[in-house]
Amino acid sequence: MTEQTLVLIKPDGVQRGLVGEVIARIERKGLTLAALELRQVSTELASEHYAEHAERPFFGELLEFITSGPVVAMVVAGDRAIPAFRQLAGGTDPVEKATPGTIRGDFGLQTQFNIVHGSDSPESAAREIALWFPSLNS
Ligand code: CMP
Repeated sequence: MTEQTLVLIKPDGVQRGLVGEVIARIERKGLTLAALELRQVSTELASEHYAEHAERPFFGELLEFITSGPVVAMVVAGDRAIPAFRQLAGGTDPVEKATPGTIRGDFGLQTQFNIVHGSDSPESAAREIALWFPSLNS
């Protein structure tokens, strides 16, 4: 089933020069880019994006991190794009959960600095795409 997912290359990924690497993996998988923008994230957008984590102890740090430098925001499309990108990303903890061969497994060490974000469900994808790319019809 063709679907769309919101992918972010977080400030750590951009600063470390991993934009090309991440996009190459997305394209090699057979997924396509429907939208892409380099962008400095406001605290307001970050808070809305991560609203489900508002009560977590790491919420403040998460907002500080995601607003610390530019991110690359993308809408990625294709057959089962939501689970397909999550497979490419690997688990949230780059050491305990992500396996080698995944983006986080290959390039990450700490859960907070885990390089990429991908929507976790069709509901999240619809909400996140509307939030980041309000002018896009999905
Ligand atoms: P992401 O997939 O963007 O969704 C929520 C983010 O919160 C997650 O990636 C991590 O960057 C961050 N996160 C999750 N758990 C922790 C944690 N225990 N400490 C710090 N950051 C976390």
